[in-house]
Amino acid sequence: MTIDTSTEAMYEKLKAMLSEVVPDVELQYKARFAVEINRLKAERNAVILGHNYMEPALYHSVPDFRGDSLELSRKAASTDKDIIVFCGVRFMAETAKILNPDKTVLIPSPRAGCSLASSITAADVRALKARYPGVPVVTYINTYADVKAETDICCTSGNAAKVVESLGASSVIFLPDEYLARNVARETGRHIIFPSLTPPAQPDTELDITPLRGEMIGWRGRCEVHEKYTVQDIIDVREQYPDVVVLAHPECSPEVTAAADFSGSTAAMIRYVEQTRAPRYLLLTECSMGDNIAAANPDKEMLRLCSVRCPHMNEITLQDTLKSLQLTRYVVEVPEEIRVKAYRSVQRMLAIG
Ligand code: 13P
Ligand code: SF4
Repeated sequence: MTIDTSTEAMYEKLKAMLSEVVPDVELQYKARFAVEINRLKAERNAVILGHNYMEPALYHSVPDFRGDSLELSRKAASTDKDIIVFCGVRFMAETAKILNPDKTVLIPSPRAGCSLASSITAADVRALKARYPGVPVVTYINTYADVKAETDICCTSGNAAKVVESLGASSVIFLPDEYLARNVARETGRHIIFPSLTPPAQPDTELDITPLRGEMIGWRGRCEVHEKYTVQDIIDVREQYPDVVVLAHPECSPEVTAAADFSGSTAAMIRYVEQTRAPRYLLLTECSMGDNIAAANPDKEMLRLCSVRCPHMNEITLQDTLKSLQLTRYVVEVPEEIRVKAYRSVQRMLAIG
C-alpha cells in the first residue's frame, strides 16, 4: 500500500511518541484517520477537545486541547470556533454545550456514557432538596444537564474541596459520587451521611466520624472503573516494587486514596509524574491514561492495572471522530430552560478559579 506524505509524517510522529505502548501496525492504520480529521477540522473551523483518558493514538494526534474535566470546561468556555468536537463522554460534551449554546457541539459516539452520571436523576436531587431545605447542593461535573440544573454549583475532581469550602456552609449536599464525597468530607473535616429516600424512611447510614466542621450529605454513585481498585492492589505492588510511588484518582475509595502517595485529578496526576523524580509509579486510574503518561515520560516506568478500561471513554475512536466531522454527528442538544439553570451552576464553579 502506498501512503501519502502527510500520512507518513503523522505515522512517524506517532511512532516517535508511542512505539513502546501501541503496536506499529495500529499506528500505521490510524495515522490516515488522524490526517483526515485534522484537514477537516481546519476546513470546518472546528476545535477538538480530548480528555486525558483518550486512547494514545487519538490523544497524541487530533485534539487541540487535552486535559481533565476542569481544564476542558475552561477551553470550551473560551473557544471562538464554530464547532466543538468533544472526544470524551457525554456529560463533558453537554457541559461544552451548556457553555456554548450557539455553537455546534459534537460527540463521536452516542454510547459514551458514565456510571456516575447515570446514578442520579433530577428528581432524586429535588427529593434531597425537599428533605434538606436550604442546604446548598454541589454536583460533580460527571452528571447530566438536568441534574446540574437542580444544583447550586458544580465541581470537578480538580476543585471539589475548594468548591465545598467556598460555600461557607456547615452542611452541604454533595452528589453523586460516594467515594469522591467521602474523600472530600475527610479533606474538609466533615461528617458524612447517606440518606435513603425510598419510603418507608430508613435511618441514615453514618460513616467517617471525624473531628466535625460540618455535615456532608452524599449519594451512592460509583465510578465503575475506580471502584475496582483496592488497598490490596497497592500492598501487592509495593511488595514487588518497594520504591513505587502510588497515584490514585479521588473517585477511588477513601481507603485507597489514604494508602496512595498522591490523589488528584487526571491532570494533577500527569503533573505529579512530570515533576517527581521517582523512577516508578503505579497509576490507579483509567489505563489509557497510563499509556499516555508512559509515552510522555519514557525515562519513568508506569505500572498500571490494565484490566480496567472505561468502556465509555473506549467508545471514542479516531474512525468515529472522522465520521463525526464528515456527517456532523452526533449533535449534542440541551433544552434551553435546563441549559440556563445548568449554566449558572457551571459558571459559578468556573468563577472560583
Ligand atoms: P478528571 O476530571 O480528573 O479528568 O476526571 C474525569 C473522570 O471521568 C474520571 O473518571
Ligand atoms: Fe465515568 Fe468512571 Fe468512565 Fe470517568 S472513568 S467517565 S467517572 S465511568
